[in-house]
Amino acid sequence: MTVLVTGGAGYIGSHTCVALVESGYDVVVVDNLSNSDVTMVESVVELSDHSIGFYEVDICDEKALESVFKEQSSQGCPIEAVVHFAALKSVSESFEKPKLYHANNVGGTEALIKVMKSNGVEKLVFSSSCTVYGQPEEMPVDESAPFLLAESPYGETKQKCEKMISKSGLTAAILRYFNPIGAHSSAKIGELPIGVPNNLIPFLCQVVAGLRPELIVFGDDYPTEDGSCIRDYLHVCDLADAHVAALENHSKSIRAYNLGTGKGTSVLEVIASFENATGEKVPFKLGPRREGDIISIWANPSRAQAELKWTAKRTIKEALGDAWRWQKELVSK
Ligand code: NAD
Ligand code: UD1
Repeated sequence: MTVLVTGGAGYIGSHTCVALVESGYDVVVVDNLSNSDVTMVESVVELSDHSIGFYEVDICDEKALESVFKEQSSQGCPIEAVVHFAALKSVSESFEKPKLYHANNVGGTEALIKVMKSNGVEKLVFSSSCTVYGQPEEMPVDESAPFLLAESPYGETKQKCEKMISKSGLTAAILRYFNPIGAHSSAKIGELPIGVPNNLIPFLCQVVAGLRPELIVFGDDYPTEDGSCIRDYLHVCDLADAHVAALENHSKSIRAYNLGTGKGTSVLEVIASFENATGEKVPFKLGPRREGDIISIWANPSRAQAELKWTAKRTIKEALGDAWRWQKELVSK
């Protein structure tokens, strides 16, 4: 079966391509390389020892997308399912460029749904985010929690895409990721941050690698045990496996699934765990809160466990060790 992976050159997409190939799927990637490099696709091929198709195409370009579906059919490998990662994901950039985020993320998803339907492809796995919940009132958060006011234009695009997919008539698994971290244990693929990383782990790794002076912990006065924010960090390879599980075990028309470990970890605990996993010291300073951050969120992942037969298996320590190995590989390139 051939699976189209939009955004497959990106961080989560590249790990998912490996997991798909290892599970016996043929993979075709569509990516406009706006936040990635084609070398990541080459590394996926090397790692999985299997060819994968690559089209440098913008998913907002309906005609170009249509020709990918036609080309695949004419080669006798028609696309039968889509795993849709392609999106812009920087929360801070989304405040500066809300229209671009809307056009790319919502417009791109709209074009994709149209082309899927015109080609009779019904199965979709969509990358959503726990950001759709805002700051939930009860923890851990389950899928029945209401969408609160989005914390950012980026979060709003995920809410809009989910609503659009719900009305699309497709068979769709909407995967709400908590905080993916780490890299493949081979250190051949990982996150390639372009510019200054916004996210905690790539920033922390660059600090430890000596590329930046210190990590600022955003806020030490939150109502949490140590005053820093709490998130549910999961290994990107566990997350990748969830996409395979969704393709294989999701049968209902539309269903949302939380993907997390079910455990919350504070920023200060992450720092301690990184030091413990790697033996490296993290230079850090306590600083002011970051605008738009929610205080704490972690998943109730029991629906994904029961229905997708998926559970996060790797530890945060393992993920942080893998992130550091990948950072060292990047520095040596
Ligand atoms: P990423 O930026 O590494 O990957 C996204 C890929 O999509 C990139 O390769 C980029 O070039 C491509 N892309 C963007 N717009 C495109 C377009 N119009 N046409 C074709 N390709 C396009 O990001 P990621 O971390 O791998 O995230 C993947 C998905 O998961 C995104 O939808 C993101 O919003 C979602 N998500 C990520 C996180 C996270 O913390 N990384 C958390 C929750 C949800
Ligand atoms: C956010 C979004 C998520 C989005 C992701 C990708 C929420 C709940 N989540 O995740 O949907 O897909 O960004 O961009 O909105 N931190 C520091 N110092 C740093 C960097 C981060 O202390 O230099 C802290 C943050 O305050 C936060 C934690 O580390 O508490 C994790 O931050 P980050 O990695 O940016 O992820 P989120 O903000 O949770």
